Amino acid sequence: MEFMKEIWSKAKSDKKKIVLAEGEEERNIKACEMIIKNKLADIILLGKADKIKKMASELGVSVEGAEIVDPETSDKKEAYANTFYELRKKKGMTLEKAEKMMLDPLYFGTMMVKMDDADGMVSGAIHTTGDLLRPGLQIVKSAPGVSVVSSFFIMLVPGSKYGEDGLLLFSDCAVNPNPTAEQLASIAITTADTAQNLCGMDAKVAMLSFSTMGSASHELVDKVTTATKLAKEMRPELAIDGELQLDAAIVEKVANLKAPNSPVAGKANVLIFPDLQAGNIGYKLVQRFANAEAIGPITQGFAKPINDLSRGCSAEDIVNVVAVTVVQAQAN
Ligand code: ACO
Repeated sequence: MEFMKEIWSKAKSDKKKIVLAEGEEERNIKACEMIIKNKLADIILLGKADKIKKMASELGVSVEGAEIVDPETSDKKEAYANTFYELRKKKGMTLEKAEKMMLDPLYFGTMMVKMDDADGMVSGAIHTTGDLLRPGLQIVKSAPGVSVVSSFFIMLVPGSKYGEDGLLLFSDCAVNPNPTAEQLASIAITTADTAQNLCGMDAKVAMLSFSTMGSASHELVDKVTTATKLAKEMRPELAIDGELQLDAAIVEKVANLKAPNSPVAGKANVLIFPDLQAGNIGYKLVQRFANAEAIGPITQGFAKPINDLSRGCSAEDIVNVVAVTVVQAQAN
């Protein structure tokens, strides 16, 4: 896959330290060996060294070269708990509770990222998206100038002429259930930046709706038109347009009929969905019906990268998400 090859080569050019919070899990252990062998990242595995090494030997892989940190016995545990308590005390956090929460590898790993002991974190092979995102949102928070953390999928549609020869970014398909117009504008801008900075694309962003340029009137359409206006005001140099129906966004012939003056219609390579129902269903439709490769969900907008895995992921998927996380960390 050409696209991932480029990400691997970018990752190798400036290796970063990534923490795998589910270090005692089989696919993470296999991925660790592949990541180290391919020099994609320095790896920290969270868990008990005895257990991890025994599991690695049973799997016939090596975790040599990885740093293994046990949250229970780490000498950083106290400092992390104190900082976490300070960060969250206004929200009712107590020191006692903070100490207990540092035993949770997802909270411990997120604190490692916060305290610059790691450049990024990858997790989610055995935890839900919400379990991973919550500590990230509470501790690492969004990057300066970004109001909302969101996610995107890199969609690779074989044999397709849409987007950039079948390469498109879809957002938000995994984080924000029902973004406001302001949040939707922020998601569009962040995804345009991701398309340009991470994927080297010339972003053309379509704000999707069931209406094209006023063809229908409804409060759901108003949200998309307001978001489009805000995004254009905030970043006038970006090619963002809407509201557009999906066909007007990607099919030139339809665009010529429905939105002839749009700089984006018919050429969109970044699709912004109005809410999570549409986004999550949308990417899965393309993935299943068009046999597309859906890389993600990859989070964007965190101050430092924290990425999720699908619970059905393979060790190879973990390797790829780690490579993307390294490239995101390089931008910091
Ligand atoms: N960006 C920035 N900050 C945020 C965001 C966001 N998108 N969402 C919540 N926050 C902040 C809140 O302001 C709050 O901050 P504070 O505590 O410092 O005041 C903190 O994060 C926690 O917020 P909560 O509202 O308590 O968190 P919540 O319980 O709503 O969880 C979450 C947020 C996890 C993102 C939730 O919205 C969620 O579960 N989203 C859907 C995830 C999901 O199930 N996706 C589909 C599956 S993935 C797939 O199919 C590929």
